[in-house]
Amino acid sequence: MTGRLITFEGGDGAGKSTQTARLADYLADLGVEVVCTREPGGTAEAEAIRLLLVSGDRGWDPLTEAMLHFAARREHVEKRIRPALASGKWVVSDRFYDSTVAYQCYGQGVAPEDEAVLRRLAIGDLQPDLTLLLDIPVAVGRERALARQKSRYEAMNDDLHLRVRTGFLEIARREPERLAVIDAAQDPDSVARAVQTVVAGRFGLS
Ligand SMILES: Nc1ncnc2c1ncn2[C@@H]1O[C@H](COP(=O)(O)OP(=O)(O)O)[C@@H](O)[C@H]1O
Ligand SMILES: [Mg+2]
Repeated sequence: MTGRLITFEGGDGAGKSTQTARLADYLADLGVEVVCTREPGGTAEAEAIRLLLVSGDRGWDPLTEAMLHFAARREHVEKRIRPALASGKWVVSDRFYDSTVAYQCYGQGVAPEDEAVLRRLAIGDLQPDLTLLLDIPVAVGRERALARQKSRYEAMNDDLHLRVRTGFLEIARREPERLAVIDAAQDPDSVARAVQTVVAGRFGLS
């Protein structure tokens, strides 16, 4: 009996953190044991790497930046995600490797072949069972995120965020069995219902 790995992806302000918590509640109500987590981060070591990536205004070389994300992701996968899945728990993660493809490859120009090498090295062939892409126009997401202090990524220009959105949608087009695109411009309850419908259908829950 192994658990399931469900990931949320999307730009800043799309509602990933909100919907990660909502989905965890929905699954828990159905009696599923859920681990709720996020990237970059999810363990003490990975959260330490997160600080390098999301705060300050360092200008990492893009491949270095991808390597830091995969260093954090390996810690997260080895110490938290794989053990949880092995014990039958379901893991819901706010971001996973699609964010590296969208931000570092589409956004910052890392070669997809290089990302594939890093991914294989860091996490082997682990893939989410389902990825919910919360899609929202860049300006709408930015407007929602205005109230909080800007992370290093949020401070980047609109061009990058437009490439990131395009990148996520391209991944969804390439892997339609794994990714479901959700219209994240709806109100939170409507987004949560859309997510629940996809999850229930995908895993045969009722
Ligand atoms: N569907 C929604 N409609 C309007 N506001 C939302 C919606 N979902 C989340 N928010 C609000 O927008 C902000 C960003 O949401 P959050 O879940 O933190 O997004 P993300 O984790 O994708 O950056 C928060 O203030 C949150 O309360
Ligand atoms: Mg968030």
